[in-house]
Amino acid sequence: MTEFLTCISNTVSEAFASAGYDASYGRVSLSNRPDLCEFQCNGALAAAKAYHKAPIAIAEEVAARLAESGVFEKAEAVRPGFLNFTVSPAFAADYLAQMAADGRLGAPTVTQNGPTIVDFGGANAAKPLHVGHLRSAVIGESVKRLSRFMGVETIGDVHLGDWGLQMGLIIEELRDRKPDLPYFDASFTGEYPAEAPFTISELEEIYPAASAKSKTDEAFLARAHEATRKLQEGDPACRAIWHHIMRVSKTDLKKNYDSLNVTFDLWKGESDAQPYIPDMLADLASRGISHESQGAMVVDVQEESDTKEVPPCIVQKSDGAALYATSDLATILEREKLYAPARYIYVVDKRQEMHFTQVFRTARKAGYVKPETRLDFLGFGTMNGKDGKPFKTRQGGVMRLENLIAEITDAVREKTAENATEGAEANASVIALAALKYGDLQNAASKDYVFDVDRFSSFEGNTGPYLLYTIVRIKSILRKYAEQGGVVNPEALLPASTAAEKSLQLLTARFPETVKSAYDELAVHKLCGYVYDLANAFNSFYHETRILAEPDETLRAGRLALITLVCRVCETVIDILGFEAPEKM
Ligand code: ARG
Repeated sequence: MTEFLTCISNTVSEAFASAGYDASYGRVSLSNRPDLCEFQCNGALAAAKAYHKAPIAIAEEVAARLAESGVFEKAEAVRPGFLNFTVSPAFAADYLAQMAADGRLGAPTVTQNGPTIVDFGGANAAKPLHVGHLRSAVIGESVKRLSRFMGVETIGDVHLGDWGLQMGLIIEELRDRKPDLPYFDASFTGEYPAEAPFTISELEEIYPAASAKSKTDEAFLARAHEATRKLQEGDPACRAIWHHIMRVSKTDLKKNYDSLNVTFDLWKGESDAQPYIPDMLADLASRGISHESQGAMVVDVQEESDTKEVPPCIVQKSDGAALYATSDLATILEREKLYAPARYIYVVDKRQEMHFTQVFRTARKAGYVKPETRLDFLGFGTMNGKDGKPFKTRQGGVMRLENLIAEITDAVREKTAENATEGAEANASVIALAALKYGDLQNAASKDYVFDVDRFSSFEGNTGPYLLYTIVRIKSILRKYAEQGGVVNPEALLPASTAAEKSLQLLTARFPETVKSAYDELAVHKLCGYVYDLANAFNSFYHETRILAEPDETLRAGRLALITLVCRVCETVIDILGFEAPEKM
């Protein structure tokens, strides 16, 4: 379906053209004076210069031609040359009827020559999932859903950090704690045990301990480096431990991501890219893409138009080791081979922006992606505490994700305690998830935001629970109607008869353009702003309009059709955002 604003713009453009002016002057925008009109067009002012005519004369000519279009109830020329519009209620109602008849609520589809890979999550195996990974998971999940909603084949990959020094640290710490394990017996020739020599809680305790030890104990650090190197060279004992770490760690990560309602199509990691590295490094060197610099191999990626320095991308250290960039480049090679993506979207902390600039430029320079392949970095800001500093626990430590979820669930439980019914517990987690995710997603991703449990879990204001509350309110009206034996007829929707109804209808009609622009700009927060406005418009309508109590059957049917559509739009939006509404609240 053509977006509502585009339909209106097209009509006005045609009027400009038929009056003898260039159609491009007919671009319409939302009114910035809602007290005067709903939409406006300032094209006559610009056309006046080009055609050496008084702007008001042009505006009047255009307005006259719009009188019969059927789109406007009022099309007015206003000095010095504005065009102010009020949409015809019948036109709006007709648009909504078309939306209601469409399974995708009139949203346009995007065609693309291959899938999109969304690289998000990015947890580091064997390290506890902390709030730093929360944003990537929450934003990435919703970008994945948005892309899919637009009709694009979308593959989400968690891209685990599973190949770094943390593995060597764990191996050596394990050696110190349990030296009798067969992995540390050089003469051992049998098969290594299938059972992991640690539980997840042990593993989570092992890593921080090892990491702390490595900061004071140089010999330990050297051993960890050596173990990492041996692992990467395929040493069977190191490999066996690594497999245990990965199995235990992935099980735990899945549990955590599940509790966030975040899922991945691929559970790949940096280790999967390793087989591609030797050939890639040889290729870069032999074609002169990389060159030697102070013993390391680097690729120059500075471009003339750069206003700041973009340092060379280091693909191999002087000791021959691969780096983060090496692994990301090799991952691109693997993804090209397996999925031939038309687009990559990386949802990563914005402090990694330079890294991705270097990787993207190197990939292009080497021809590892097609020239038309889109490489997008969606960098997010930091989640801060109320003190404005990066979020910490009360003790000043790194907050574990599950504790964070527990904290917000408690806050929600407290607020719902008065009317706790059966199923309240399940509801508390559903509402808490909305509070948590909406609190994050409502901000432009690149901005830092303050994590505020009280505000996020409030049932009033621009919050997840408020949206859920609104949806539940609509659903309960519809449920009551159904219990009375009523069946909603979506085609019964009527032209608006009150201002509140008109506002609600016009907002509903903007779903297709909103979802499109959120996708085009990878700006999920636009969907949040939209659904919040829509919820407010519904609540205003609800407070001043009879719905089930309306005695006139046609009016009642019209209003039920409208709120059914509003409910579908709201639920579609929150589904894209990655949470859902309970049945009751
Ligand atoms: N594991 C990384 C980190 O915690 C994030 C990975 C992001 N994705 C990527 N392809 N580099 O910082």
